[in-house]
Amino acid sequence: MPQKIAAGNWKMNGLRAARAEAEAIAAGAPEGVVTLICPPATLLGAMPEGLTLGGQACHPAESGAHTGDLSAAMLADAGAAWCLAGHSERRTDHGETDADVAAQVSAIWTAGMAAILCIGETLEEREADRTLDVLFAQLDGALPEGATAANTVVAYEPVWAIGTGKVATPDQVDAVHDALRGRLEDRLADGGQVSLLYGGSVKAGNAAELFALDHVNGALVGGASLRAEDFLPIARALAAS
Ligand code: PGA
Repeated sequence: MPQKIAAGNWKMNGLRAARAEAEAIAAGAPEGVVTLICPPATLLGAMPEGLTLGGQACHPAESGAHTGDLSAAMLADAGAAWCLAGHSERRTDHGETDADVAAQVSAIWTAGMAAILCIGETLEEREADRTLDVLFAQLDGALPEGATAANTVVAYEPVWAIGTGKVATPDQVDAVHDALRGRLEDRLADGGQVSLLYGGSVKAGNAAELFALDHVNGALVGGASLRAEDFLPIARALAAS
């Protein structure tokens, strides 16, 4: 079975006082689920022991003249075991292409971390009936050779559902995850074991129906991961699924 993962993406939110929420999340994380938080990199070192951590993005190079950037090795050194790659906000804000994301995924593996590769279609692409074409192109272009269930998780995040309160319907998520599972099985020897996460306005109130779907192995949660009282019920719903 793919491992169950409840991943929180704090984005550009959180000062040192957020440690209290992180402590509550670490203390309340249920058995049987990898519960992890991707805080801003400035907080990695301030997070409590025992909380699984991820970075939000990295530069593909190991080191060098890249002012303001962080290497995968730096994130790992600061305590991250996971790192997001290709989040739609990075693709939009920083113009990251699939080739850029593929280079980041390789760097994440080299640093000994596992990558959470984010893919997703825009509303325009969905309405033009291009959802699967777009997702397959992102998966093919951004996932380098060498991917395994141990070093890679794929997060499906429809761009139109991120931070908008518009969650994709269970039917929409089911159809996409089914197709992604098939694509991963075709490409990877252990593609059936790769965890597939859904992301986009996941909340305690909609988590259980998403986790009931065959190929939804967890969630990547933005807004509802900032507070333990919102995030822990999602992790518990996953544990119970
Ligand atoms: P959201 O963000 O849960 O606030 O919609 C999800 C994400 O961007 O990972």
